[in-house]
Amino acid sequence: MTKALTFFSTLTVLFFLFSSYVTAKQPRFYRSISPTSLALRKEKLSHLHFYFHDIVSGPKPTAIRVAEAQVTKHSPTLFGAVVMIDDPLTAGPEPSSKLVGKAQGIYASASQNDMGLLMVMNLDFSEGKYNGSTLSLLGRNSHLILI
Ligand SMILES: *[C@@H]1O[C@H](CO)[C@@H](O)[C@H](O)[C@H]1NC(C)=O
Repeated sequence: MTKALTFFSTLTVLFFLFSSYVTAKQPRFYRSISPTSLALRKEKLSHLHFYFHDIVSGPKPTAIRVAEAQVTKHSPTLFGAVVMIDDPLTAGPEPSSKLVGKAQGIYASASQNDMGLLMVMNLDFSEGKYNGSTLSLLGRNSHLILI
């Protein structure tokens, strides 16, 4: 009985040493948390589907460059350019289709070596159930072409 206990304790100690070793080797900054452990209600999901029109030229542009640095002109990524937007969000792909909101904010070239835009905007909805609601976004866009 005592031997079994000692063996079990040794195993436990070894397990903790091993897990400390693994943790020390590969530090993790994330872990899964069960929603029930936080007493959260079941999440509600909504599917939003709309078209985002970033109009950069013509008589009524909705995206306007408002600032740039001295290096911007010589930068292959237009590093330092800042664009202010008030872009329509529509129900269909045509710009003339029903307006459901606006994307209002800023995007700026924040990378010197590849296309990496800092994007910060509010999606301001003006139709249906979400009329008056906003969704705030902050993120990186490596695809959009900068004006
Ligand atoms: C959206 O809300 C605004 C403000 O309450 C209201 O004036 C407008 O008529 C609403 N639009 C629609 C399409 O319901």
